[in-house]
This record gives sequence, C-alpha cells and structure tokens, in this order.
Amino acid sequence: MSDYLKFLAKFGIGGAHPGGLPLTKEILKSEKVENSMAILDAGCGTGQTAAYLSRKFRCDVTALDYEKMMLEKAAKRFEREKLPVHIVHGSTENLPFDDQSFDLVLSESVTAFTNITKSLEQYARVLKPGGRLLAIEMTKEGDFTFEEEQKVKEFYGVKDILSEKEWCNEMLHAGFYKVETIAEDTTVKHAPLEEISEFKLSQDFELHLFQIWMEHQEIMNRLRERLTYRIYKAEKSNA
Ligand SMILES: C[S@@+](CC[C@H](N)C(=O)[O-])C[C@H]1O[C@@H](n2cnc3c(N)ncnc32)[C@H](O)[C@@H]1O
Repeated sequence: MSDYLKFLAKFGIGGAHPGGLPLTKEILKSEKVENSMAILDAGCGTGQTAAYLSRKFRCDVTALDYEKMMLEKAAKRFEREKLPVHIVHGSTENLPFDDQSFDLVLSESVTAFTNITKSLEQYARVLKPGGRLLAIEMTKEGDFTFEEEQKVKEFYGVKDILSEKEWCNEMLHAGFYKVETIAEDTTVKHAPLEEISEFKLSQDFELHLFQIWMEHQEIMNRLRERLTYRIYKAEKSNA
C-alpha cells in the first residue's frame, strides 16, 4: 500500500475523492436510486458515501475495502448511525460476491489505485444486467514528463495513469457497453480537501504522515491542469 493510502486510513478521511460527498450527492441526483436496489461501495474508505446511501435511500448497501483500518472507522459510523450496511473486507480485484449481485457499483477514487483491468472486470461480473458503474477517477489530461509520471505513480502507488479515452476503452473491454463521461466540475475541483472532507484521526497517528499530506498538496498544485478527474457512468448490457 502506498504511503498516501496509509495516510488516508490513519487520517480517516471521509469523502477522500475529488468533490467529496457534495459531488457524490450531485451525481446521484440523476440516478434512479430506489430502496429495492443492492449497491456496492467498492473501496468505501470510512464509509461516508455508504452511510449516505443507506440513510437516504434505505437500500441494501455493501461497503467493501481492503484496508482494515478504514473498515473499522466505517463500522463505527454505521453503528453510531444505526445503519444496516454490510461491511466486507476484500479487494476490488477479486470481489467476494456472486455474479449479478448488484444494481449499482460505486468506485470513488479507488479503481485508479488497483489493477484497473481486473477491478473493472469484477464490477461488470457482479453487476446485474443493465446495472451501472459510477466511478470518479484520476484522469490524465495532456502530457507528463517522464519524471512527473514516475513521481505520481510512486507517490500514489498507481501502475498507470489513464486518459479519459483509455478509461473508456478499459470499461468497454471489461464488458460495459455504454460509457458516459462528465468532465470535472470546476467548482468542486478547487475546493480544498479539508473543506469537503471529515477527519477521523487514529490515536497512533504518526507525525511524519503530515509530510505525505504536504507532498500530496504539492503534486496537486503542480499538476493541477493535467492530473484531473472524470466522472464515468458505465452500463452493463441487458443481455
Ligand atoms: C482515495 S480512498 C477513497 C475512499 C472512499 N471511496 C472515499 O471516497 O472516501 C481509496 C480507497 O480505496 C481503498 N482501496 C485501494 N485499493 C483497493 C482494493 N484493491 N480493493 C479494495 N479497496 C481498495 C483504500 O483502502 C481506500 O479506502
């Protein structure tokens, strides 16, 4: 796991994706979420989105993450709010669910950190026919120098940084038949993470992790125009 993901877990950042929960709420407005639906929040982190889905739509929500510290923080949240969210420890690359289990899969700044091909294939497998994937993912815009690319890969622990076209191709290849992309919303893009996130600090938080936070800010400032994100909406065919 990259130091960046370790930092997010220890810091207990809720809404650790661009735009945070306000963007999630905005995206969900155009989705027909009903209480009969089964939804997977893949890479749920501290469970902020999963809690929102369960609270607002009363649907069957599963929150999965491979980082136990994140799941502990999510579990406390669901317990506190008395929400019946299923908590599952596992990887998006090998989802512990039957085929065609979910109506909707959310990946909020998660898939980019994983083996993208494997995770997308897994989302397509566990979605029901006609089911949808909503993903908010780091997207490369324009060119990086070799050093910039290496820095981003090393810091975030990602194998590839995909362009919008590459993300769409990966989704089509994984078995989605329709992929729609929405460019980043500049109003949320420039809101600092601390304004849109909440923090659930671990007691044994190491001070050196603040350095990771500073480095993240520095990379984001330096590559602001080229390391952006997109909202991807992909649909699995009905056949
Ligand atoms: C940037 S955080 C986003 C968390 C959450 N979706 C949110 O928006 O707050 C990325 C999350 O993905 C999780 N993660 C990374 N790789 C994973 C994998 N292969 N399987 C499951 N979770 C993974 C990390 O543990 C972390 O919680």
